[in-house]
Amino acid sequence: MKTLIISGSQSPESRSVILCKEVQKRLKTKKGTIVRFIDSRKLNITPFYHKQKADMDKVAKSVKWADNIIFGMGVHCYSVNSALKAILDYSCGDATGKLFGIVCAAGGDRSYLSTMHLTQICMNEWRMIQLPRIVYATGKAFDGNKVTSKDVLDRLDTFAEEFYRIGKKLA
Ligand SMILES: Cc1cc2nc3c(=O)[nH]c(=O)nc-3n(C[C@H](O)[C@H](O)[C@H](O)COP(=O)(O)O)c2cc1C
Repeated sequence: MKTLIISGSQSPESRSVILCKEVQKRLKTKKGTIVRFIDSRKLNITPFYHKQKADMDKVAKSVKWADNIIFGMGVHCYSVNSALKAILDYSCGDATGKLFGIVCAAGGDRSYLSTMHLTQICMNEWRMIQLPRIVYATGKAFDGNKVTSKDVLDRLDTFAEEFYRIGKKLA
């Protein structure tokens, strides 16, 4: 199973990147799984994405390569940030029908429905199939760059387990 993790955050202290790395760590222990990680902070990317064709094309190649995709998002104005939207818009054309999962960092407990924007984009645009479980965490779940909340750690375990189980069947 080939899994692509795309982290959309541009923040140097990104918490969704930490969540993505925790998922990567867990998936790497699963038999027959190859995980590729795209940290969008390292890409030449702005909302004016046509100017960053080279990097966006690289992401598109990884999307094509992958059996399934995990998106890391930070909530911005109850939605996805502009960098992730640019990646979705430009690079996800070959994501059609693939399984996807969402891990999300937010400032507040009440923004959890913001992930629905990502769901809508993936399902309406590419008929992707979502793992019906999201990892959602606020700053309270972290101590520095470590996840310390037992609840979130348990969710990361369950998310990775289920993503692997279903992903393998669909791959
Ligand atoms: C421009 C901007 C808008 C934000 N909007 C929201 C919001 O609507 N709801 C919320 O819970 N947090 C909001 N936040 C807080 C972020 O979701 C939070 O900092 C989260 O950790 C971002 O993910 P990241 O650390 O991976 O970048 C916002 C942050 C920024 C910078």
